Amino acid sequence: MARPQPKDSLEAYKHISPDSGFPTIIHPHFNPKIAAHIPPDPLREEIIPPKDRAFFADPEKKALFSVAKPVDLTESIGTELQGVQLSQLNGTQLDELAALVNERGVVFFRDQDLTTEKQVELFEHFGILDKHPAQKDQRHVTIKGSNADWRDVSNYTPWPNAEFHADTSFEINPPSYSLLRMEEHPPIGGDTAWVSQYGLYDALSDHLKKFIDSLHAVHTSRLQYDTIIDSWGGQPNRPPIDTHHPAVRTHPVTGLKALNVNPGFVIGFAELKKAESDALLGFLKLHIHSADDHYVRWKWAVGSVAMWDNRVTIHRVIPGNYPPNSRTGVRTTVFGEKPYLDPNSESREQRERRLAEEKVVKANGAEKTNGIAIHEAKGTDLGAS
Ligand SMILES: [Fe+2]
Repeated sequence: MARPQPKDSLEAYKHISPDSGFPTIIHPHFNPKIAAHIPPDPLREEIIPPKDRAFFADPEKKALFSVAKPVDLTESIGTELQGVQLSQLNGTQLDELAALVNERGVVFFRDQDLTTEKQVELFEHFGILDKHPAQKDQRHVTIKGSNADWRDVSNYTPWPNAEFHADTSFEINPPSYSLLRMEEHPPIGGDTAWVSQYGLYDALSDHLKKFIDSLHAVHTSRLQYDTIIDSWGGQPNRPPIDTHHPAVRTHPVTGLKALNVNPGFVIGFAELKKAESDALLGFLKLHIHSADDHYVRWKWAVGSVAMWDNRVTIHRVIPGNYPPNSRTGVRTTVFGEKPYLDPNSESREQRERRLAEEKVVKANGAEKTNGIAIHEAKGTDLGAS
C-alpha cells in the first residue's frame, strides 16, 4: 500500500516550488499558524515531587512476585509480568513494581482490564500527574497511530517525529514514569521500541564516558511545538522551552548512571561549539540506533500495557503502513525530579563488576576460614581449592 503524502496541513505545502513541484521549506517563524498561536498557560517552575515510591519497596519484591511471574525479554531491558491484573495490585505491590521498572527500564502486561478511570487512580500512586503540552485532559493523553513516511515529513517540519525520546525530557521536571495502555490496535504494525540508557552509557569507552559526564544536553520543546501546530493542527497549552540537563544523570533510587541524551528532543551540548556538538549528537544517534543488545521491541494488542522509566530509557513507535485510526492508547505520566549527576555514582556494569569482586573476596575469605578446617580434615592442598 502506498503511503499518503505528508500532511496537507503543513504550511510548506502551501508554497510549492514551480521548479520541482515540491513544497519549499520555510522557517517556522514565517509560518503564520505558529506565529499567531498564543499558549494559554504560563511556563512551569521547578517542583519537588513526592519521594519516589520505589524507595518504599522490598528489593526482593516478594509481594509482587507472589502474584506475578516475571519473564525477562532481553538481558539488558524489558520484563513481562505474567498472570496478573494491574487493577488488583495493592500499594506494596505497586511500590515493588516501581522498583522493577527502575531496574528493568520497562515492564509489560497483556490482557489488562484497566479502565481510563482506574489507570488514572492507579498512576496517582506514583506521584503528581504531568500534562503534555498537547494534552487537553488534565490527567491523561491519547496516543494515536501514524502511517506517514517520517523520512519524508522530516523534509518539511524540523521535529524528528518518530525518533527515540524520553517523554517531554525538555521539562525542568521531566517525567519519571509513563504508562501506556492500548485500547485499539491493528493486528500488525505500531510496535514500540525501548532502549536502555543504563546500557547505552556502559557501551561507551571509558574516555568518552568521562567526557560526556562533563556535559549538559540542551533539550528543547521548540521543534515539537512547531510540529504540534503545523503538522498535528494542535494548540500547545504552554510556550516552548529549552532546558540544560546533565548529559549523564544518576537515578535517584538505583543510584546508577544513565545517558540522558535523546535525538527526539536534544539539539546539542551547552559546553561545545556547534560543529563539535553536531558531531557528538550524530555519533550518539548512531550509538542509539545500533544498540540491539540494549533494545526491546513490544508488539501491542488491545489491553496490553507498558510502564517505563523515562529516566533510564528512551522509546519510539516504529513507523508503519497500518490505518492510523486503528491505534489508540491512553498514557498517564508523573513528574520526576530535576535531573542531576552524582559524580560518585557508578554505572550498571561498574556495579555488577564491583559486586562480583566483593563476592569473590568474601568467598575467598570464607574459603580461607573453611579451608583450614577442610585442609585439616582431608589433608588437601589449600592452593588447589
Ligand atoms: Fe513517548
